[in-house]
Amino acid sequence: MKKKSKVTAAQKAFLARQSKAPMFDVLLGHAKRDVVSFHCPGHKNGRSIDEELKSYTGENVFKFDVTVFDEVDSLHDPVGPIKKSQELMAEAYGVRNSIFLLNGTSVGNIAMFLAACDPGDSVIVSRSSHKSIMAGVVLSGVWPIWIQPKIEQNLDVIFNSTYAQIKDALDRYPEAKAVFVTSPTYNGVVTELDKIVDLCHRRGKIVLVDEAHGPHLIFNNQLPQQSAVRAGADLCVQSTHKILSAFSQGSVLHFNSKLVDFNRVKKVVSMLQTTSPNYLTLATLDLARRQAVMDGGKMFDKVIEAAEWGRNYINHNIASMKCFTRKEIQREGFDLDVTKLTVNVTKTGLSGYEIEDILAKKYNIQLDYADIFNLVAIMGIGSNKSDVEALVNALKDIDKTYHGEQKNWALQIPSLATEMVMMPRDVYLSNNTKRVPLNKSVGHVSAQVLTPYPPGIPVLIPGERITKEICDYLMDMSSKDIRISGQESDMLKTVKVFTN
Ligand SMILES: Cc1ncc(COP(=O)(O)O)c(C=O)c1O
Repeated sequence: MKKKSKVTAAQKAFLARQSKAPMFDVLLGHAKRDVVSFHCPGHKNGRSIDEELKSYTGENVFKFDVTVFDEVDSLHDPVGPIKKSQELMAEAYGVRNSIFLLNGTSVGNIAMFLAACDPGDSVIVSRSSHKSIMAGVVLSGVWPIWIQPKIEQNLDVIFNSTYAQIKDALDRYPEAKAVFVTSPTYNGVVTELDKIVDLCHRRGKIVLVDEAHGPHLIFNNQLPQQSAVRAGADLCVQSTHKILSAFSQGSVLHFNSKLVDFNRVKKVVSMLQTTSPNYLTLATLDLARRQAVMDGGKMFDKVIEAAEWGRNYINHNIASMKCFTRKEIQREGFDLDVTKLTVNVTKTGLSGYEIEDILAKKYNIQLDYADIFNLVAIMGIGSNKSDVEALVNALKDIDKTYHGEQKNWALQIPSLATEMVMMPRDVYLSNNTKRVPLNKSVGHVSAQVLTPYPPGIPVLIPGERITKEICDYLMDMSSKDIRISGQESDMLKTVKVFTN
């Protein structure tokens, strides 16, 4: 029989503290008192909110929408409930400090660059990063050193940077001040952060991690245990709203560094955040943390079971679709968060976009993302087995009723460890640009970001020399059913380049 582990006094005290939600309590108390409001916002406790909206939601929720005053504390200079609530967040994740963010992990990624780097510093960055990383690179004025993303052609999926790739980049560019890693990826692939952080710190390098998809990892030991907070990354950002129960835009920046000045982090974040925070979102960050600490383990047991059931069912019963498994991902230090279901649909002859559309219109199921090859179903703490059953049944139906023509598309990217001729900031914010025909762009310095989906990796970055390989790739992409973000016109006929 399994022995029941004893709860220690320290654990009891930890749980007693974590069972509190100071931000939420203060807000609830305020809302219940029906205070006469001469503060922003203008709807005055919901009084003037549209009746159609109110009749659906009820009116109480609007009483939480207040502004900065002593009772509810200030996000920019917290001394009361926001401070307490951030301290509990830091304790839950085992870091020195946590800061609430109200513009998602996007703003956190920008803040990490501005806090850790000075203009002109070099930073090692995986090219397969979220678009907010480009904003961070441009606004902070750093020189990016790109790591070529790894592609797994059998699975039509992109992996994040490996320890070996980062070590190689550090050996070749010892002047780099920081390393920027994304883990987990959109598809739930986690890289070996323990080894990466250890290596970087031994060489005095700062580690910044986009952990948008990983706020839940520490709460369930069936999930990959390589998380930025545990590994000791200097700074990392998590989208609490993506996987846990915070409202959209609610993210957290965690600080755990001896190399970065925390006062600078606070100053930078304050510069980037609104002075009118949404207090309901702040309260949901507080409650999401409490829920994850108190019940996250059990809740994720169920989510994991449902996800694995769905993965298994698809792999054994739907001939034209396939979900990669944890075992298939576990190599070169990678692991998989199984709560993300990536369903490869290439054998249906339909693109992921087409199936995403059918799922939404015919089956009332909305996915987070699709591309030519894959559907990505993101599960969160609120997901349940019947959601997965609905998805699986719809996919089974689609497999039987829809048949497209088989295409020989393959996930490919050109070599993207390119020559940076100018600093991205200098080019991106410059007016010395012109458009040249795509087929005449080789040798020019790009002045724009172009990102084909899939794979969602920027193929052109401001400041880099356009190679023949990249030009040929873009010409090929523009002739296919590929979405290209950043092209500034419907057809990818011209490219914006720098002129001096
Ligand atoms: C890897 C990654 N990082 C950052 C972001 C941005 O996060 P947020 O939506 O919280 O701003 C996303 C969004 O999808 C993402 O996938």
